Amino acid sequence: MPRIAGSSRQDVARAQAVNTQPTSSPLAALTALAKRRGFIFPGSELYGGLNGFWDYGPLGVELKRQIREAWWKDIVQKRDDVVGLDTAIVMHPRVWDASGHTSGFVDPMVDCLVCRRRHKADALCEEQGLHLLRTENGFRLPEGVRCACGSNRLTEPRAFNLMFKTFVGPVEDASALAYLRPETAQGIFINFNNVVACSRQKVPFGIAQIGKAFRNEINPRNYTFRSREFEQMELEFFIRPDEAVDIIAGCVASPSGGYDKSPGDPSLNWGWECWLRYWVDQRMRFYASIGLPPQSLVLHEQNRDELAHYARACVDIQFTFPFGVQELEGIAARGDFDLRQHQRHSGKSHEYFDEQLKAAISKWSAAEREAFVARCIAREQARGACGLTADACRVWCQRLFEGCYLPHVIEPSAGVDRIALAVLCHAYREEWVSIRSEEAGEKPRILEAQPGLSPPDGYELRTLLRLHPRIAPIKAAVFPLLRNRPEQVARARAIFDHLRSFWPCFFDIAGAIGRRYRRQDEIGTPFSVTVDFRTLEDHTVTLRDRDTMEQIRVAADSLPEILAEKIR
Ligand code: GAP
Repeated sequence: MPRIAGSSRQDVARAQAVNTQPTSSPLAALTALAKRRGFIFPGSELYGGLNGFWDYGPLGVELKRQIREAWWKDIVQKRDDVVGLDTAIVMHPRVWDASGHTSGFVDPMVDCLVCRRRHKADALCEEQGLHLLRTENGFRLPEGVRCACGSNRLTEPRAFNLMFKTFVGPVEDASALAYLRPETAQGIFINFNNVVACSRQKVPFGIAQIGKAFRNEINPRNYTFRSREFEQMELEFFIRPDEAVDIIAGCVASPSGGYDKSPGDPSLNWGWECWLRYWVDQRMRFYASIGLPPQSLVLHEQNRDELAHYARACVDIQFTFPFGVQELEGIAARGDFDLRQHQRHSGKSHEYFDEQLKAAISKWSAAEREAFVARCIAREQARGACGLTADACRVWCQRLFEGCYLPHVIEPSAGVDRIALAVLCHAYREEWVSIRSEEAGEKPRILEAQPGLSPPDGYELRTLLRLHPRIAPIKAAVFPLLRNRPEQVARARAIFDHLRSFWPCFFDIAGAIGRRYRRQDEIGTPFSVTVDFRTLEDHTVTLRDRDTMEQIRVAADSLPEILAEKIR
C-alpha cells in the first residue's frame, strides 16, 4: 500500500502555494506534479541523474502495476487462446544473431564537430523537415542539416548498435559477452517449442510476456518517452500461414474496411490480414478501457521504408503527446521470420504439426496438390528476389501436405512506460473552481482554467488527473469529516480497512475536507468516501466523484459493490 506524499503540513502548504497559479506548459506542469506527488523521479537523482533512466515513486509504481494488470487480464486471463511466459533478461548471445539484432539493431548517429553534441541522425533530419538518405553501405545526411547550435559541420552517419553489453561470469572476454534484451519478444520465440509441448494450445494461439527491455538510445528524450530502460508488454500470436488456411477453409477471407473497422470474431478462414485487423481492434478496445478513447489515438499504417526488416505490415497506435504525435504501440505482422531464424540458427525444428491441416489435405487428389504447388511457385516468383526458389517452394508445399509449417506471427507490442505517460498526459487538467464550496457541502462551480491567467475572484485553481478508475493508483480515499470525533475516525478507518482488502485505498484525516479532496484530485483518485454525523445514525456515507465533484449518499455496506461496478 503506497504512502502518498503531500499529507504533512509543509506538503499541504507547498501544494496550496503551487495551486494558486495555472501553468503554461502542460508537460512541465505534469513533470512537476509527477515528481512532487511521487509518480516519477529522475533516475539516480542523488548523484546528478543518469540520462534515459527513471524511477517510479509510490504512486507511479501503482499506476504501472494497474496498467500491467489490465493488459494481462485482457490478453491472458480472459482468453482461452493465450498463455503467459516470463523469460530471462540475459539470453544466449546467439539469440540476437538469429533475430538479426547483432547486425541490424542499429541507429545512425552523427556528431557535431563544433559543439560535440551527439544526434540520432534520422531524428535530427526529421526535426528539420528532411529525410536521412539510404546508401548501399548505410546512410548519408541530406543537404542543409544543421546541429541545434547552428553548425552544419556534422560527421557522416555511423551505425550504432543499441544493445547494452554485459559479461556472464568473472572473465570479461569475447566468450563471455552477452546482451541485456532489447525486446521481450525473442524470449517468447525461443520458448515456442516448450510452450507447445506443455500447454496443449493449438495454432492459432498466443504467448504473452511483460518485462524489462534495454536500449542504449543515442538520444533519450521527451521525459520517459524514449528511455534506456523500459518495460514492454508483448504478445506473439501464432497463426496459420495463409496457404494452410486456404487448404482447411477453402478460401482466405479478405478484410473489408480499414484498420479502424472491427473484423468481427475470429473465423477459420482468417489469414494474416484479418488477424492483424483483429488485434488492432482488440488493442484499441484496451486503450478505451483504460481511458484513452479512439478519438485520442491515431492509427498509422507504416509504409514500406518504415517497416522493420522482419515485418510484412505494421500498424502503429499513436497518441498526441505534448511533444507531438508518437507511437504507443506497434502491431506487426512478422510472418514466420523469427521461428525460421531460430530454426536455422539452432538447428532445431520449430515446425508445428496441424492435425486439421493434415485431415483437410488427405481429401485432396494428386492433381489438386499439383495445382496448389504451381500456384505457390507462381506467387513466389512474383515476389522477385524475396520469394522462394521453385525447389524450395516444392519442399515447403510437401511439408504443408504432411500437416507441418512454421506458424506466422501477429505481434502487438506496447511499452508500459509510454502508456503510463500517455494516460498521465491525457488525464492532466487544470480548472478554476469556486472556493470553499465543498467545505460548505455544496457542489463547486467549475470554469476551464485559462493558461497563464490567475483564477477570477472567488475561484481557485484545481489540478486533477482524470485517470480512468481501472488504472488509477488509488481507487478510493476514505475520510472522517472531523478528525476530533473518535467515532467518525473509527468508523472511517473500519470502512477503509474493508475497502483496501479489494483495492489500493487511502485514509486521510489531515486538514479541511476540501483540501483532502484536492489532494486526491491531484493524484487521480476517482472516488472519495466521507464519514460524517449521519453515518453514525443511518450507516450511510457520501461518495464523491472526482471529475464532477458531485456527492451522493450511499449505504456504507454497499460501497464494495458500487465501487466494483465503477472500477471494472
Ligand atoms: N518486439 C517489437 C518491438 O520491440 P518496438 O516498436 O521497437 O517493437 C515496441 O517497441 C514498444 O516498446 C514501442 O511501441 C514502445 O511503446 C516501447 N518502446 C520501444 N522503445 C522504447 C524506449 N526507448 N523507451 C520507452 N519505450 C520504448
